[in-house]
Amino acid sequence: MNMRDFTFYTPTKVIFGKDAENRAGVEAKALGATKVLLHYGSGSVIRSGLLKRVEEALTAQGLSYVELGGVVPNPRLGLVYEGIELCRKEKVDLILAVGGGSVIDSAKVIAYGVAEPGDVWEIFDYKRVPTACLPIGVVLTIAATGSEMSNSTVITKEEGGLKRGYNNEICRPKFALMNPALTMTLPDYQTACGCTDIMMHTMERYFSNGGNMEITDALAEGLIRTVMQQARILAKDPQDYDARAEVMWAGSLAHNGLTGLGTDGGDWMPHKLQMELGGKYDVAHGAGLAAIWGTWARYVYRDCMDRFKKFAIRVMGIPDEGDDEAVILKGIEAMEDFYREIGMPTNMRELGVEPTDEDCVEMAKKCAVSVGGAKGSAKVLREPDMLAIYKAAR
Ligand code: NZQ
Ligand code: ZN
Repeated sequence: MNMRDFTFYTPTKVIFGKDAENRAGVEAKALGATKVLLHYGSGSVIRSGLLKRVEEALTAQGLSYVELGGVVPNPRLGLVYEGIELCRKEKVDLILAVGGGSVIDSAKVIAYGVAEPGDVWEIFDYKRVPTACLPIGVVLTIAATGSEMSNSTVITKEEGGLKRGYNNEICRPKFALMNPALTMTLPDYQTACGCTDIMMHTMERYFSNGGNMEITDALAEGLIRTVMQQARILAKDPQDYDARAEVMWAGSLAHNGLTGLGTDGGDWMPHKLQMELGGKYDVAHGAGLAAIWGTWARYVYRDCMDRFKKFAIRVMGIPDEGDDEAVILKGIEAMEDFYREIGMPTNMRELGVEPTDEDCVEMAKKCAVSVGGAKGSAKVLREPDMLAIYKAAR
């Protein structure tokens, strides 16, 4: 028997399509909300008029709200503390995140912080396990992280540039309003970053040595191929509604657990390695992943040949000819070619950062601490492996 047992839990109600954001008031009210925190980023939702529409949707249902904007990509703990204080003072009982992964994650951390006493950072420092979380709703504006349905949240502590993730079922959003048209105002770079992240969430689960299921593989392979195809369409025509919709739904499916069922959950080291780049250099998440992936893949593939070969053939369309290693390396190269095609970097120089040897040592140390010493499924990596990958990815 190869398949692992699993529990599939995706309690998020998804309302998908045109004008979905207008349901914000109805959905919040149905959850019994009386006072909402509208949480958003650095201004795109103001410029697009989205925030105003969401405010109107809440008011139409007789709901009052307070607002906290200013979430930045790689969201910060400082604003989270402000949010917790505001929610307590205003007796907020639902947080509505209007934005992307950064805003949703910031909302999740505020929600943990309001629900229980104590410093919320303790959760990310592995000192306390939360048992409560305020309900969260989402109006999604970028297809990328899947945070709108995921159990994950990622936050950066300014002091020391510590970027940490934490997973717990209790933070999954209650509802997600997903209107693909809202993503048409994204800069092309962010669209490409989002597509990369979506594919990577699927690939992290795919490259595993712990169990598998054909149905999971078929879903994963189809999802990656579809996102590649749609990303190419969006690179030429960012206003293509259908392509926006395909990518947006793929984003949720890629990180709600579906594409990892029956396995050990996957590898996740590219994400962990990237997280240090995000914490230190504040780079966009998807671009950081693309910059590290090829180096990681070449470092680990010998320990996971079957999966890398399957990936090369079924996802990248490499003919099954010659020796396995050649097929695998062609598959990795083809993925890097795709990144370049959509404007993503394939190393740190192209990402715009130039870590010194000392910087690499520091990132490897922090990364090892964040994973408790060792992590990986395609190949288990320890601090010396992490250092080797950081150095080789420059
Ligand atoms: O802040 P605003 O002005 O809204 O601008 C944002 C931001 O500059 C802009 N943007 C978003 N929607 C837009 C738009 N601009 C124009 N039109 C729109 N419709 O895009 C920029 C990036 O936004 P951000 O929310 O940072 O992007 P993303 O969704 O990629 O989130 C990245 C964060 O999520 C974490 C990452 O580490 C990073 O901190 N992740 C969260 C995960 C999770 N919770 O499950 C999993 C991921 O692996 C990831 O680690
Ligand atoms: Zn990601």
